[in-house]
Amino acid sequence: MASLRISTINKKLLNQTLTLNGWVRTRRGSKGISFIQLYDGSNQDGIQAVADQELENYAEISKLTTGASVSIRGRLVESPAKGQAFEIQAEEVKIIGTSSGEQYPLQKKGHTLEFLREIAHLRPRTNTLGAVFRIRNTLSWAIHSFFQERNFLYVQTPIITANDAEGAGEMFHVTALELESLPRNAQGKVDYEKDFFGTDVSLTVSGQLGAEVFALAFTDVYTFGPTFRAENSNTSRHLAEFWMIEPEMAFTDLQQMLVLTEEFLKYVIGVCLERHEEELLFLQKMYEPDLLETLKHIHQTQFETLSYTEAIDILQKSGESFEYPVKWGVDLQSEHERFLTEKHLKKPINLIDYPTEIKAFYMKQNTDGKTVAAMDVLFPRLGEIVGGSQREDALEALSDRMKQHGLQQEKYDWYLDLRRFGSVPHSGFGLGFERLVQFVTGMKNIRDVIPFPRVPGNAKF
Ligand code: 4AD
Ligand code: MG
Repeated sequence: MASLRISTINKKLLNQTLTLNGWVRTRRGSKGISFIQLYDGSNQDGIQAVADQELENYAEISKLTTGASVSIRGRLVESPAKGQAFEIQAEEVKIIGTSSGEQYPLQKKGHTLEFLREIAHLRPRTNTLGAVFRIRNTLSWAIHSFFQERNFLYVQTPIITANDAEGAGEMFHVTALELESLPRNAQGKVDYEKDFFGTDVSLTVSGQLGAEVFALAFTDVYTFGPTFRAENSNTSRHLAEFWMIEPEMAFTDLQQMLVLTEEFLKYVIGVCLERHEEELLFLQKMYEPDLLETLKHIHQTQFETLSYTEAIDILQKSGESFEYPVKWGVDLQSEHERFLTEKHLKKPINLIDYPTEIKAFYMKQNTDGKTVAAMDVLFPRLGEIVGGSQREDALEALSDRMKQHGLQQEKYDWYLDLRRFGSVPHSGFGLGFERLVQFVTGMKNIRDVIPFPRVPGNAKF
């Protein structure tokens, strides 16, 4: 019989003979019987297989250690043991790959998350990373499902780009030039005309500008791809390589986008609550005592919309002593964001209308002349999870802003064309995928929710 995945086992299969492939999580022996906890990555706990000394290779079976790979054929029976519905009465245990016992870095005892990061090639086999990556998989599916159900077009924008979409200058250069002998131009600067693309290019920080092009042709679109930032932020919520979901909607203003954003976040969290009770209970027990309560709260609560100016006022009157002082015009730090969402309003916040000075060039200027139609969604534990805005759709206003930001107009002429030919109000946002996974799993450090984290000083694996 073909092998089954452990997660598909159910009552209907009782008394049938099944074949299961996987890895030994633990094995303990008692009076001529071995209890093997078998894991194939499809569920949280795996399944127990019971092998007794009648099996012809029992001598090998009784030496199986954590990490070995096996194929087990046996009958599915109700388990007499507590906490598990079924177990397998093994009729055959084929040993596929042994795991050299003591040397295997993942032993039964718990390991710290820091240690696991050093063995990122083996940590996917742990129950913590197992839970995280099954949830990550579901979130990614749910994101596509949400947008596809609403007729959004999925567009793949380029990774190599000549544009700095956020205008923050935190980009990784991409070149095919010999770094040891760079060609120079008459001014002594690196001659990028001799480079592969004939110009200097980088890894993208955001797919937004490309998404705008497509929104002005397909109305509602989204990107979901990798983005890169060379910002030297050594924090628990920053990565140098992360995935971003960026919907972009034509004929949509900021207020309309707020409605969609809330619906979207509730939808993807709702799917995880429905499908991942086992994983969430495990993560709650291990890492975040309020995990389920917080997720359910967010799923049910109406988000509050607050302007930046109101937020500054609240922060100034709060009586809290913040590390970074607050006054109108400063960028909010995560301590401020967390105070607002965790302590003051105790719910998710759409923070809108930020000062023009601290936001990107493409945001729509408000009529007050001081603020732009920006939106950040703030969540407890994290602070900013989403950043977005209505876009400046007036040619002259956009062109002025680009000049103020020192952007070379020639480079962005194609972007200005969108305002020359059939311009419409349009809006979009970016959701950091790992921030979402971090929030839903309750993991404290963003490095534990991506397969191989890229952070300052580390790109191992
Ligand atoms: O606020 P950001 O910089 O916005 C943009 O890039 C816009 N172009 C998005 C848009 O309007 N289409 O980034 C968006 C989100 C943040 O809210 C945060 O969740 C995440 O991306 N993010 C990061 N996640 C992990 N590591 C980093 N270094 C991140 N920087 C931003
Ligand atoms: Mg932002």
